[in-house]
Amino acid sequence: MPDGQKPSAGAARIVDLLDLGAGYLSGAVEMPRREAARLLGEVLGLEEAQVYARSDEDVPEPAEVSYGQLIRRRADRVPMAYLVGRREFYGRSFEVDPRALVPRPETEHLVEATLECVGAGTGTGVRMLDLGTGSGCIAITVALERPDASVVATDLSLGALAVAASNCRRHDVDGRVRLVRADLLSALRLQAFDVVVSNPPYIDIGEWHSLMPEVRDHEPPEALFAGDGLDFYRRLFGAGELFAAGQRLLVEIGKGQLDAVRELAVRGGFEVEAVVLDLAAIARVVRLRRRRRG
Ligand SMILES: C[S@@+](CC[C@H](N)C(=O)[O-])C[C@H]1O[C@@H](n2cnc3c(N)ncnc32)[C@H](O)[C@@H]1O
Repeated sequence: MPDGQKPSAGAARIVDLLDLGAGYLSGAVEMPRREAARLLGEVLGLEEAQVYARSDEDVPEPAEVSYGQLIRRRADRVPMAYLVGRREFYGRSFEVDPRALVPRPETEHLVEATLECVGAGTGTGVRMLDLGTGSGCIAITVALERPDASVVATDLSLGALAVAASNCRRHDVDGRVRLVRADLLSALRLQAFDVVVSNPPYIDIGEWHSLMPEVRDHEPPEALFAGDGLDFYRRLFGAGELFAAGQRLLVEIGKGQLDAVRELAVRGGFEVEAVVLDLAAIARVVRLRRRRRG
């Protein structure tokens, strides 16, 4: 446990450590008891519900020490996903560490819109490009949902690509998801793809102070910030002539960015086909189509 807070003698019971951990986390996180139970479960190899059900059992000392370390790091606002090394996305578990953004539930809307856009499949195999793949959660999920898909997934960050590679092996799609280090569209033959998707960095650097410490202090800045929030879209839509007429592009956007993104997209030669709201009714995904020339 955190220094100086160990129960007096003998092995500590689950319930004692839960109380101590929850107390230590209170004020730092919203649900201190649940998070303490999750971390204790992690070191004991138990589900959260089992932790509560077995609250009278003793905890071996090495597990207690590991738990104490995790509790301290969580109190420092290290994201839970980095502490346990994984996060659920679209019903599957993805490895994450501080080299890659923690997959967000709202990004599942981008996956859903992409799957809808590529339809049920023609038997010829859909070819998708995922720009800024991070943990690989979008690329790998589409590859798993569409076994005929072949995917190229890019990132500028070698660290993120290493995390994505590990997830490709974990989900056994390393033969169908090709990872490429690239700066946005450089070195890519765009027209070879049926659909291009991206969840780019889209936070305004001026919002740095207002972000949760979990995000601001622990997630990779290159996955978060893009100048005034729109830099990545400016570059992407500015390269509109590289897309084939009729080609589809789906992007995730931040709260309040719809009008600006629409304007940039139209200027870049795209038309907006659909806008998807997330569960908080925020415009989150924009589906675009490259206009035919003339
Ligand atoms: C918001 S994260 C998205 C990660 C992942 N696709 C997801 O949805 O969880 C954006 C990703 O874009 C990458 N990135 C930032 N600038 C880039 C650039 N110029 N070219 C390629 N990737 C870039 C970052 O390293 C990061 O992994």
